[in-house]
Amino acid sequence: MKVAVVGATGLVGTEILTVLAERNFPVTELIPVASERSKGKEIEFKGKKYKIVTPAEAIALKPDVALFSAGGGTSTTYAPQYAEAGITIIDNSSAWRMDPTKKLVVPEVNGDVLSAADKIIANPNCSTTQMVVVLKPLHDKYKIKRVVVSTYQSVTGTGVQAVEQLMDERAGKFDGEKAYPYQIDLNVIPHIDVFQENGYTKEEMKMIEETNKILGDDSIRVTATTVRIPVMGGHSESVNIEFENDFELKDVRRVLEEQEGVVVVDDTANLKYPMPKDAHGKDEVFVGRIRRDESQSNTLNLWIVADNLRKGAATNAVQVAELLVKKGLI
Ligand code: A2P
Repeated sequence: MKVAVVGATGLVGTEILTVLAERNFPVTELIPVASERSKGKEIEFKGKKYKIVTPAEAIALKPDVALFSAGGGTSTTYAPQYAEAGITIIDNSSAWRMDPTKKLVVPEVNGDVLSAADKIIANPNCSTTQMVVVLKPLHDKYKIKRVVVSTYQSVTGTGVQAVEQLMDERAGKFDGEKAYPYQIDLNVIPHIDVFQENGYTKEEMKMIEETNKILGDDSIRVTATTVRIPVMGGHSESVNIEFENDFELKDVRRVLEEQEGVVVVDDTANLKYPMPKDAHGKDEVFVGRIRRDESQSNTLNLWIVADNLRKGAATNAVQVAELLVKKGLI
């Protein structure tokens, strides 16, 4: 299968190449795509070197599938052109996620929605992906009424420049604005993506709207506060969930243990709980600190951690591609 990776030099693109190789996705020819700046440079994949081409040049090479992670602008411009040329796109940007004609897919949650008609498929926001994998089996069993989430997000979610900013600051070299408007090292910035008129950030609105779309249930009320912290390796989330029906904690644990893609790490007696340092480089979503919210009935508190470049981006995109292959759609 001819596979194009658009944004192949970026943090997510690089991770997509790693995940494609690790999972032995049937790549017969790789087409690495980046901006004009990178054109002609070489990328190594499974011991073979490939030359980087531009998004326009890649269309002519007719890949079967293109995994896009080069920002919203590139996706908005090129995804329709790729689709027109018969290429299936799995898009990591936010450009198409809330388009009612496009599917927003986390395979283990709503993989069944995919059909042959889907040419542009959206990969959800990283914070949303790791949360819905945990919410899905709980919603099926207890029916979720409301979710209150606060995030603690890794700088890798912002891209190469943000990692450089953190590293420069650690080395005592902060020289003004780079990826964030303020110093990120030794700091916490309660601001991810742009502010909206309602006082929320776009990242917060993504978590709200995308959760409803993926779970296919607009009756679930969601509110979010998204925060950037000076961490690499993964995003963490404190999640408070109110259900229609009551639960036993042991059943909640069992339901989560049985959920594909979820690992329960919840042994406080032995100080075991999920942390980004441990989630780094892993494909699973880790959940712990599972406890009853004693201030309100039918309500649960959880702590969810996943590598945002993996399940939050690259792994999910590759899993969507795997599902398309399995269903004979590419
Ligand atoms: P390039 O390295 O040539 O700039 P990150 O979000 O980690 O910074 O990565 C962004 C990715 O998107 C990079 O691979 C970058 O390529 C790519 N990219 C940015 N702008 C464009 C564009 N206009 N066309 C194609 N790729 C782009």
